[in-house]
Amino acid sequence: MSEPIRVLVTGAAGQIAYSLLYSIGNGSVFGKDQPIILVLLDITPMMGVLDGVLMELQDCALPLLKDVIATDKEDVAFKDLDVAILVGSMPRRDGMERKDLLKANVKIFKCQGAALEKYAKKTVKVIVVGNPANTNCLTACKSAPSIPKENFSCLTRLDHNRAKAQIALKLGVTSDDVKNVIIWGNHSSTQYPDVSHAKVKLHGKEVGVYDALKDDSWLKGEFITTVQQRGAAVIKARKLSSAMSAAKAICDHVRDIWFGTPEGEFVSMGIISDGNPYGIPDDLLYSFPVTIKNKTWKVVEGLTINDFSREKMDLTAKELAEEKETAFEFLSSA
Ligand SMILES: NC(=O)c1ccc[n+]([C@@H]2O[C@H](COP(=O)([O-])OP(=O)(O)OC[C@H]3O[C@@H](n4cnc5c(N)ncnc54)[C@H](O)[C@@H]3O)[C@@H](O)[C@H]2O)c1
Repeated sequence: MSEPIRVLVTGAAGQIAYSLLYSIGNGSVFGKDQPIILVLLDITPMMGVLDGVLMELQDCALPLLKDVIATDKEDVAFKDLDVAILVGSMPRRDGMERKDLLKANVKIFKCQGAALEKYAKKTVKVIVVGNPANTNCLTACKSAPSIPKENFSCLTRLDHNRAKAQIALKLGVTSDDVKNVIIWGNHSSTQYPDVSHAKVKLHGKEVGVYDALKDDSWLKGEFITTVQQRGAAVIKARKLSSAMSAAKAICDHVRDIWFGTPEGEFVSMGIISDGNPYGIPDDLLYSFPVTIKNKTWKVVEGLTINDFSREKMDLTAKELAEEKETAFEFLSSA
């Protein structure tokens, strides 16, 4: 057995964490022979609830969990981390403007970025889930200048999985028969789910999704809006936001960082846009198609971008640039 790795989950008393922690503890993310010290952070008023989560994790009797630490203190939570999964954030309340939500969260992620800088290993992999995920991730990244930018990513894998699932449902196959969908841009309703390079296995043969479906108007219309608005549809139906599917997507994202992507496949994640080959401005935290090897991502190169895609990729970049401007204006005046 190797040395234990130290993994932090923030927002650990929340609903995503409740679906996530068991999968981390049972070896589904870092492998069945990787011992883990699991650190749970939440805010002080949630310590009672977090204590219940801690008890349940103990009661799961998971052999890979060498220790579980529940805390409301950043110096304890961020110390010597190998992986930080930042789920906790300020939820949107009734009547709250998007700008106010952004400000409240940028403040949290500035503090947590500074705590990463001060206490975590320089090799730490940071995954941001709490919304607005892209801009929170950029804020944390900028607040931890001694940790490589490439170590930061935000979750768009749930959108990616939603896109795969919609194609699979339409074609009557399972979602593992669909690969290489792309989510471009922001984890918001401006995201662009793109299947122009996606493939599907049909009757044992791999074909392009456009060729397989022969329904361009659905692919360019309802498919895109369904994926873009899936989060809102789940909230409307469940009266709570996606948690089980978000936790599953976090597991997929982190497992791929740890073990790499399968040969010939790419996945979507929000990463720093510096030097990207698709004309997206630098210094944005934008979702791209990537492959991962040796815990390092690389943007997939050489995909042709048609006019339809170009417009949608630029629109979501524009929204991210505006979010960044609001966030940084606030940070510089705070
Ligand atoms: N990127 C994605 O694909 C995606 C998908 C689903 C949800 N989300 C986002 O994930 C976040 C969490 O969702 P949830 O359903 O678990 O919410 P939740 O409200 O059930 O839980 C959030 C938890 O975070 C805690 N928290 C708040 N501020 C904190 C801080 N400063 N430090 C540590 N913990 C803090 C809260 O006390 C709460 O326990 C939300 O922002 C949600 O919008 C993102």
